[in-house]
Amino acid sequence: MAAPAASASAAFRRVYDTLKDELLRDPAFDFNDDAIRWLDGMLDYNVLGGNLNRGLAVIESYKLLKAGSEPSEEEVFLAYILGWGIEWLQAYFLILDDIMENSHTRRGKPCWYRLPKVEFKTTSGELLDQIITNEGRKDLNKYTVHIYRRIVEYKTAYYSFYLPVACALLLSGQSLDDYVQVKKILVEMGVYFQIQDDYLDCFGDPDVIDKIGTDIENFKCSWLFVQALQRADDKQKDVLFENYGKPDPACVAKVKALYKELALERVFSEYERESYEKLISDIEAQPSETVQAVLKSFLHRIYKRK
Ligand code: IPE
Repeated sequence: MAAPAASASAAFRRVYDTLKDELLRDPAFDFNDDAIRWLDGMLDYNVLGGNLNRGLAVIESYKLLKAGSEPSEEEVFLAYILGWGIEWLQAYFLILDDIMENSHTRRGKPCWYRLPKVEFKTTSGELLDQIITNEGRKDLNKYTVHIYRRIVEYKTAYYSFYLPVACALLLSGQSLDDYVQVKKILVEMGVYFQIQDDYLDCFGDPDVIDKIGTDIENFKCSWLFVQALQRADDKQKDVLFENYGKPDPACVAKVKALYKELALERVFSEYERESYEKLISDIEAQPSETVQAVLKSFLHRIYKRK
């Protein structure tokens, strides 16, 4: 996603320190000094370092929704708190996601669970159990466009796109029932974002995306895979089934070569253009110009990100 305006993120960032200090001093947690130091470092490691788009989208949407009346300091602070709530949630999802996918890096650093000081046996044991069971099934034909869509709607779109705007709407005293169409548009934007993410996992530059893709090795129901399955002839399907979900770099290379042979880079560019045009026309059909501005500002953060 593109870098948000520096001043907005600096003000947002300061609220993180306030919230973290409050959390570390919360009497509900009976921490000793060592535990507090650990928690402090763990939060900075995992909550910071991302693009902050979700959190900043709350405050940006809220300000747009309040057009005409500048929100008070107190109101802005409340929007920041909601924003950090989503960023905290994002940190939690990413830690688990990295364990499940056996990833190495995240936001340009080793994944949290890979640090020698981090004890993650129980969680990772449970997850590993699940992963191995899943891998055991190996019925790749179950990965369909329909299933893909359901997965990404739930795993990405709601919390990354609808949640920030829903927070801003609620904070400005609106009823979510009046925004059913807006919700649909945001979920579509989330699906587009995840498809980009899947594409970049395979074709993105690891130095730019700040992580090394692992979807092929991990048997992921990725957009590229479902597209390949739809387009492959029997011989190509054999190559796909033979090599997908294997850690061997030679197998990964064969899958990537097949994706290229099936022109999936072009398929993606076409999807990206069509989806952008559809989103813009749906957004422009919204009766409120303020709502249009909220949606466009979010879309332009992510469109054609590298
Ligand atoms: C990554 O989201 C996880 C997905 C939902 C695809 P971001 O790319 O927004 O991650 P950060 O917060 O900037 O690290």
